[in-house]
Amino acid sequence: MTSAAPWWQDTVIYQVYLRSFQDSNGDGIGDLPGLASRLDDLRDLGVQAIWITPFFPSPNADFGYDVSDYCDVAPEYGTLADWDALVRQARQRGMRLLVDFVLNHTSDQHPWFREACSSPQHPRRDWYVWRDGPPDGGPPTNWRSVFGGPAWTHEPRSGQWYYHAFLPQQPDLNWHHPGVRAAMADVARFWLRRGASGFRLDATAFLFEDPDWPDDPDPDRQPPWPLQPFNSNRPENHGVLRELRAVLAEFDAGFDDERVLLGESTTDTLTELRAAYGEQGDEIQLPMNFVYARHWQRDAPFFQRLIDDTQALLHDRTPVSFFSNHDHWRQWSAFGDGVHNDAIARLTAAMTLLQRGTALVYYGEEIGMGDLPDAELAAAPLGPSRPRADPRDRARTPMQWDAGTHAGFSLGTPWLPLPRTWGDRHVAAQRADPHSLWHWYRALIALKRDDPALHAGAHWPLHADQSSVLAFGRRSADGTLALVLLNWGEQACEVAVQGLPAGTGPTAEVLLASPPIAAPQRLDRVPLSPFGVAVLRPQGMNA
Ligand code: GLC
Ligand code: CA
Repeated sequence: MTSAAPWWQDTVIYQVYLRSFQDSNGDGIGDLPGLASRLDDLRDLGVQAIWITPFFPSPNADFGYDVSDYCDVAPEYGTLADWDALVRQARQRGMRLLVDFVLNHTSDQHPWFREACSSPQHPRRDWYVWRDGPPDGGPPTNWRSVFGGPAWTHEPRSGQWYYHAFLPQQPDLNWHHPGVRAAMADVARFWLRRGASGFRLDATAFLFEDPDWPDDPDPDRQPPWPLQPFNSNRPENHGVLRELRAVLAEFDAGFDDERVLLGESTTDTLTELRAAYGEQGDEIQLPMNFVYARHWQRDAPFFQRLIDDTQALLHDRTPVSFFSNHDHWRQWSAFGDGVHNDAIARLTAAMTLLQRGTALVYYGEEIGMGDLPDAELAAAPLGPSRPRADPRDRARTPMQWDAGTHAGFSLGTPWLPLPRTWGDRHVAAQRADPHSLWHWYRALIALKRDDPALHAGAHWPLHADQSSVLAFGRRSADGTLALVLLNWGEQACEVAVQGLPAGTGPTAEVLLASPPIAAPQRLDRVPLSPFGVAVLRPQGMNA
């Protein structure tokens, strides 16, 4: 008997930036009960799994990515009982939850780090990364942190320096230490036991550093780029990730056929990305493809090549495609030209969701939420619920649900303002309009879930005779074919699809198109509008 594919393959995972999704108690901060109250909306969109950004106790130097207690819920986000209720309600709807697991560092307020600082002899001292500075003063190396500034902070009591790939308030854990590995494995067990279907792993590239601590030959490189051979994607990573997979496997039963790791596996190349799955496929099942998510240009030839290369290299793995997240620009703003944004949003969504593999959707992407304009971001007030300005907040504005107060996000004052122009762009309006972007996403998700070729069909490379058009096919084991044609150009065109399996065509049925088109009579002359999308099922195959 062959077993069915695990649930996390060829699916859609929806990223909820919890602070901004739905406030339930009027404090202006999204929370777990708020998310629970929106599960029906997500189910109606077709979402089957949700990644929730960190909701653990945290001093919020980096909104929850500085964790001071891994096994509790921060009061602003709810309680452990709220988490349990969320799990129950999600499961009733057949939905799964992924917990954001910050592996690389804790908060400087975590008891482990306070103990480590208390004395160089403390047993927890070596849970973090300490070095002496050189005799003539200054930090042990000239490395920069990801957020700028030195990657070392001086600890006055001992006179030593601790290493932090990110903020000084985010000291790196020492993953060489068996105590760290055991403690973090227990954190994983805690959430798996409580119903997590797996984890989104934060910043996995940065777990280890070069043990020789060489100086950075070009610390002022422009633009700054955090991934360097001495501070990221070190060979020791693999051991940690294999251990974590083994912890997950202890729980592979019941509701979840397999628990999953979704990795923030930043890499420069596809070859490094392939390595993140593990040579035996026993590490991260879903490492995010940041090579794809880093090219913010309307560039059909680039994406044509990248998608074909990715699918070839990862033919026996599950590629993970996305553009937007809480650290990036929103794709609406990044790809939009100010005139055709809605059409372009449909195109980037189709390209991302219809590839073989798993796709991520960032909250609000499905209604075309854009970034907070620079001037509004600069004017956004600071206060207890927004202690520090962060340029990434541009992509973290409150979810726009309906025409009510603060777009239905909160009855209080949201921690971050909505864009002034949010106007009638909200879920309620788009649900009522069958031609809306929300319905487009819903149709794409349905095709990905239900269509025999677009669900798990193999990638079939195609070529279009127009350089503005990106084309690929999907083909199921029984030969059912789907064609995806994307016109990245602002001119309408007629395109000939080349490289089809022998005997395909000559006509095609339209599975989905933007804007709508009549069924093409010839696959060597498919009409596409500016930024148009056509998803076709060829007819009359000989196969
Ligand atoms: C990841 C998170 C980001 C955070 C950083 C440090 O990149 O996505 O939001 O600031 O890790 O934890
Ligand atoms: Ca709240």
